[in-house]
Parts: sequence; C-alpha cells; structure tokens
Amino acid sequence: MSAGSISRLSRAAFALLLPLLLATAGRAADAPPLILGVAWYPEQWPESQWAGDLALMQAAGIRVVRVGEFAWSSMEPEEGRYTLDWLERAISAAAAHDITVVLGTPTDAPPAWLTRKYPETLRVDEEGRRLQHGSRRQFSYTSVKYRQLCRAIVEQLAHRFGNNPGVLGWQIGNEYTEDSFDPDAVRLFHEWLRAKYGNLDALNRRWATAYWSQTYDNWDEIPMGTGRGNPGLLLDYKRFVTDQWRAFQRNQIEAVRPYAAKRQFITTNLGGLGWANRFNRTDIAADLDFISWDAYVGQGHLEPYRMGATHDLVRGWKQRNFWVMEMQPGFVDWAGVSNSLDRGETRAMAWQAVGHGADAIAFWQWRSALNGQEQYHGSLAGPDGGPLPFYAEAKQIGADFAKAGGALRGTSPESQVAILHDYDSRWAIDFHRQTNRYDQIEVLLGYYRPLRDLAQAVDIVGPLATFASYKLVVAPSLNVISEDLANRLSSYVESGGTLVLGPRSGMKDEFNALDTRRQPGPLVPALGARVEQFYALLEDVPVAGQWGKGRATIWAETLSPAPRTETLLQYGAGNGWLEGHAAAVVRPLGKGRIAYIGAVLDPVLMRSAAKWMVEAAGLRLQALPVPEGVEVCRRVASDREVFILINHAGRPAKVALPRPMTDVLNGGEIREQEIAPRGVVVASVRR
Ligand code: GAL
Repeated sequence: MSAGSISRLSRAAFALLLPLLLATAGRAADAPPLILGVAWYPEQWPESQWAGDLALMQAAGIRVVRVGEFAWSSMEPEEGRYTLDWLERAISAAAAHDITVVLGTPTDAPPAWLTRKYPETLRVDEEGRRLQHGSRRQFSYTSVKYRQLCRAIVEQLAHRFGNNPGVLGWQIGNEYTEDSFDPDAVRLFHEWLRAKYGNLDALNRRWATAYWSQTYDNWDEIPMGTGRGNPGLLLDYKRFVTDQWRAFQRNQIEAVRPYAAKRQFITTNLGGLGWANRFNRTDIAADLDFISWDAYVGQGHLEPYRMGATHDLVRGWKQRNFWVMEMQPGFVDWAGVSNSLDRGETRAMAWQAVGHGADAIAFWQWRSALNGQEQYHGSLAGPDGGPLPFYAEAKQIGADFAKAGGALRGTSPESQVAILHDYDSRWAIDFHRQTNRYDQIEVLLGYYRPLRDLAQAVDIVGPLATFASYKLVVAPSLNVISEDLANRLSSYVESGGTLVLGPRSGMKDEFNALDTRRQPGPLVPALGARVEQFYALLEDVPVAGQWGKGRATIWAETLSPAPRTETLLQYGAGNGWLEGHAAAVVRPLGKGRIAYIGAVLDPVLMRSAAKWMVEAAGLRLQALPVPEGVEVCRRVASDREVFILINHAGRPAKVALPRPMTDVLNGGEIREQEIAPRGVVVASVRR
C-alpha cells in the first residue's frame, strides 16, 4: 500500500470517526462494574517507562490505577511551588491504555522540607517523644499547621484534576493510624470534653471521679492517655480520636468537593486488617461515598471465615458494597514469615471479596520499588518492569472480571442475619479484659462460623443500623448498651425479631460506668432474667441443656431464673459457683424473643446453638447445600441472582445447583459442577 493510499484511508477513517471522537472528547471513561486495579507509583520511574508499564497492565485487564498517595515531594518540592504536570501526563498515559485513576491525596507521607520547616507538625507518641522524618505517618493528625498544609496541596490537586476525565475518584490520605499526644491534641481533647459535658460536675459524676481522688476542678487537669485510666475517660478518648480523624478527613473532603466533578467519588482506604479499632470506622465511613479497605493475609493462608467476616464487617460500615483498595499480590514483606499464597489462592481470595460485596480489587503494588522500605513486597512486575510469575494469576482475575462484570452490575449481598459489632463495647472490654483469654474477634467468629454455614449470608452491622429487615440479630460481647439502643432492640423484638445477646452484654452504660441493673442493663426488663455474677474461667465447665452437652470456656455468667424465661443451658459441676445455674435463657416478648447466652461455648455446642437461633428466627437453612470447604456467596439485583462458589478445600468438590444457571466465566448452562481446589464458579439466574 502506498503512502498516498494510507493517508487517503486514514483521512476517510478519521472523517468517519470524527463525530465519535468529538462526542467522547473530555468525557470520563466509564468504570466497568467489576474492576481490577493496582497501586502505581509513576513518580518512582522514568517517564519513558510508563507506557511499557501501562501496556502490561492493560494486557492483564487492569482498569484502574491508584496514584499519588505518597508523592507529596514530587507534587510540591518546596512550599507553595506545585509541580503537577507530570501527574497530568501520567493520568493521560493511563487513559490512553483505557485505565482510569484513583487519585490519592499525599498526606500520609509529608515531605522533608515540611517537617524541617514546621517541626510542630510531627506526631508525639504517648511517652512524649516527637517522631522524626524518614518513614511515613510521622505527622500529627491534630496539628493545625499540618491540616492547613494538607488543605493547600489537596486544593491544588482538586482544582487541577477535579474535572479530569481520567480521574475516577479520590482517596483521602492512606490508612489513618496513629493518634498524637502533642499540645494541639491535648488542647483539642479538653475542648472536646467541655463541649460534651458542659461543666465539670457532669463529667465528674459520669466518670465517678471520687474514685482514687480523680475529681477535676479544671479542664486542664484531665490527663490524656490510653493506659489504665478512668474507664469513662478512656472511652471518651477513643471517641475523641475518632472525631479527630474524621475532622482530618473532612478537611480534605471539603477541599476536593467544590472542584470535583459529580461523577468522581471520594473514599479512603482503611488498614489494620479490618478489625483494628483505634477509632470508630463506621463514623469515618459516614463522610465518604463508599468505603475501601486493605485485605492482607500476611503470614499463612487465607482463612475463609475470618476473611469473609472481615469483608462483611467492612460492608457493614456503610451497609453497601465496597472496594478492596489493596490486596496482596501473593505475598507481603512485613509478616513473621512473608510466605506466598499458593497458586490460585489469591484468585480465590479476590473472588471471595467480590462474593462479600467488593466491586473492585486493587493489588499493592504494580512494580517492585528499587529502594525504600518495601523492596521485597509481592508485585505484578519486577524491578525491570517485566512480568513476575504472579502476573499470570492477576491476568486471569482481569479476564474473569471482564466476563463477570455484566452479571454482577448493580448486585449486592443480602442477608437476614445480622451480627452486631460495636466499637464502644470493643473498647470497653479491651480496656479491662479481666481475662486475656477473651478475644472479642474470636468470640464473634465463634458465632459467625456456624451462622454463615447455615444462613450462607451474614451482615455485620453497627448499633445504629436498622434491624427491621433482619430475622435474627446476634450481639456477642455487646458490653455497652445505651438506653436508645436498648429501646430500638426491644421494639425490634416486640415486632417479631429474634435477638440473641452473647456474654458480657449490657454491663456498661455509654459513659463506661457499670449499669446498676446488672447485665444486660437496660434490657433486663425485656429478658426477665439478669446476670447474677460473671466468672473468668481458667478451666472449662460442663454445660448441658436443649442444645446438647458441651463446655463453657473462657467466660461464664450465671443467669437468675425468672417467670416466663426458659432455661436453655445449665452449668454442671465446676468451681462450685456455677453448678446448677442457667448459662443461657430465652424469653418471648411481643411477637419475637430475646435470648442471652452467658458463656463462651465450645464450637460443637455453638453449632447447635446457631441451629436453634436460625430455626427460632424462622430462617431457611442452606439455600444451596454444598460440601464442606465450599463457600457460597450470593449477590442479588431486582432481576437477577448471582452465586459465587469458591472451593477453599484442597480437593475437588461437587456442587448441585437447585436449578440450571448460566456459567458466567465459561459460558453455557450449568447444573451439576465439579469445582477444582481453589476453583471458582460464578453462576447467574434470573429471579
Ligand atoms: C499497606 C499500605 C501500603 C503498603 C502495603 C504493604 O498497609 O497502605 O502503602 O505499605 O501496606 O503491604
């Protein structure tokens, strides 16, 4: 073909394409319904290598890169001098490969000039030591100056990229972590207390400060710390920390919103392996469009129940679908042994996240950094920019997601069982555990495992959730119960709900003071019975009753008999205090029932307790029966249901679907299916 004919051809093609080009110019790329992404750090690499990196990403089906969250020194090399052209070029380069960008605000890693110029922005630890430069997160979240500096850089970014069609949304900061004990923080704590209590008399009364002569005559006298302080103070401190992180985040949201196109979302990613409770994550999520988190296994292998429950917890923070903003690409670099997940295990992990409500999975990170603190961490591309072995697995996930996006669009998990997870209660017990054997996450998982197996869907929600849509609400370790929560739980039961309180429930009021009604505090009238005494156990104690025989472990409470309250379990011979007393009771109330289980039960007994709960609540058991080791997840839209079946076991498993369904990943129809170890089946059906 001659040069002339090429140019004639391209002129003709151009004329044909022109209307399309004009229509799409400046238009934001649509994000696919199910997204595979990676964290990409263009500032660490010569620009000449970007296209190679992006082409390789595109070939793996990667549709989103998160960029910028540690790039402050490249964005603002000296105060007030902003250098953002490179970032704009990086966003355009990504767009050229059909990849959109989540723009991270860079405030997790302040530049060296900043901390040299404003040393007061450095965090102070609880022992009073100021941190130094050289790592990340060395800033104080309460520092007024630091917040001003954050606002300035974020405003620049928002102004420049708020309308950029290549920017899908924003991530504020990164994994909020440590609080600070600097003078700004202490001053703000005193202001916070003053705003809450109004006067010191109220505070002294609520905290019962006559104890150990703690009575305060002056706000400045109130200490700030996390040691074994007054329980009222400790609980308020956690709420203060939450409010401060929320204000830290809001400061940046306010800088982004006025400039950001409506279609751009604002989120953050929360670390701490999901369960961390340095602050109340439901409150942090309240100001964001959706929440995302960082799912890492670290040492070992995927524990399906624990990881599944963590996703359910995360989904509960906003009661909507979420993103996994970081997932380990095989292995990390920070565990005792940073072993790799087996081949196929990360794919199972990614699909499990989707099954529990994730709409995007992004791996951390794209390419091994040449230097810096995380050189050994797993990635998709090596330091040379070429694919590493894990790249092939990521590519398979990319291909899966492209095939499954249509079926999963607009779907989310749905459950009739809720487990209540409450930060106030987590804190209240952790401040004073009474036994180091009482691990609240383990106690919660003790309920979660059998309930998940039986109901095949569990929501984990906070105390402000609406309970009406659930047939069963289970609250292990609900230590702090306010009058308001008690009222809402009682009316839930009266209108037909089944409420099961677990051990240590209703011991404290919202000021972390002991409730004078004893446990479960404001719910004593509803339950009829109350806890007479609690015991931290060194040795297991036998229990027996309607659920069979088994053991009470770690913690045991004796419940008083009461009219219309039925005993479900009783203690056998043990330390002499428990024998013959009720360990679990139930009482009908209105159209529903309220039960209290005062002991941590062994797993076998827990299984029959869970069976009793779902039956009492009138739930259908196992909509889709599966062999052990196979996890069933279900996402629904008004016209469709999609089943995601994951074989976590090391052997093949056979599954029979209740009716023929579309095989989303392989095409065709399926009814009976063998699933390979670590294998995944996605099946959709109209409803
Ligand atoms: C996350 C963090 C990332 C990276 C990763 C390594 O907690 O957000 O920046 O450090 O861990 O696993």
